Amino acid sequence: MMDYKPAPDLLKNRIVLVTGAGDGIGRASARTFAQYGATVILLGRTTRKLEAVYDEIEQAGYPQPAIYPMNLEGASPKDYTDLVATLNNEFGQLDGILHNAGLLGALAPIEHYDINLWYNVIQVNINAPFLLTRACLGLLRKSSDASIIFTSSSVGRKGRAYWGAYAVSKFATEGLMQILADELVENTAIRVNSINPGATRTGMRAAAFPAEDPNTLKTPEEIMLTYLYLMGADSRGITGQALNAQ
Ligand SMILES: NC(=O)c1ccc[n+]([C@@H]2O[C@H](COP(=O)([O-])OP(=O)(O)OC[C@H]3O[C@@H](n4cnc5c(N)ncnc54)[C@H](OP(=O)(O)O)[C@@H]3O)[C@@H](O)[C@H]2O)c1
Repeated sequence: MMDYKPAPDLLKNRIVLVTGAGDGIGRASARTFAQYGATVILLGRTTRKLEAVYDEIEQAGYPQPAIYPMNLEGASPKDYTDLVATLNNEFGQLDGILHNAGLLGALAPIEHYDINLWYNVIQVNINAPFLLTRACLGLLRKSSDASIIFTSSSVGRKGRAYWGAYAVSKFATEGLMQILADELVENTAIRVNSINPGATRTGMRAAAFPAEDPNTLKTPEEIMLTYLYLMGADSRGITGQALNAQ
């Protein structure tokens, strides 16, 4: 992947939805997808952050993005169908989703894990991607080449003490990815894969590892090749795979 050279117009004419687009890896993904030609729908819970990303994309001269404020913690199934209706009205197509928004929750033993926090982490990290994907599939089917990317983690591939609801949600994410890929492999042009970003310099990483020197970590911008590869047509035929961005 390190020697992958995406064409400058890799994502031209594609409509791509990024969740958690206001910060960290989501922000870098949104900017990068726009740089390669995509019209990006910036979904997130903090409008001020989404507006900043919007401005960056616009000032860079990339295709004009759109902002869709949505709190995945409290969103109802109807909020997702409303979102899809808006996408259909505004764009008439959807070619990709990057499920990136995530909550770390607490690092705590299962025995003492706060129960409400457990529900919140599961809601944002796995129920929301399920609801969003379920609602968007009709629109994605209309695309001649669509990509769904889920965001996993090392602790979603091998369990580790104290990672609680976060790790469980990432295991479930890998499961959802595999099931969906298997369901869509025949008679659709939708591929479904997951990315483990690996240790990356973001607020979430700093919250999980407060004693770590962030300068030893890759920035979100430095891990974008895998995201570009999976979002663009070069990964046509690749589905059901769990990839590492580092
Ligand atoms: N950084 C790493 O080392 C690492 C490693 C493995 C996996 N990951 C995964 O990579 C993804 C991105 O993480 P990151 O490191 O970039 O974290 P981050 O900087 O904390 O960004 C997370 C994003 O998710 C959004 N979000 C959280 N709760 C939300 C909600 N209820 N509704 C809508 N949006 C919500 C946040 O919005 P606000 O900014 O508005 O709060 C933020 O934009 C996550 O899925 C994470 O699990 C990261």
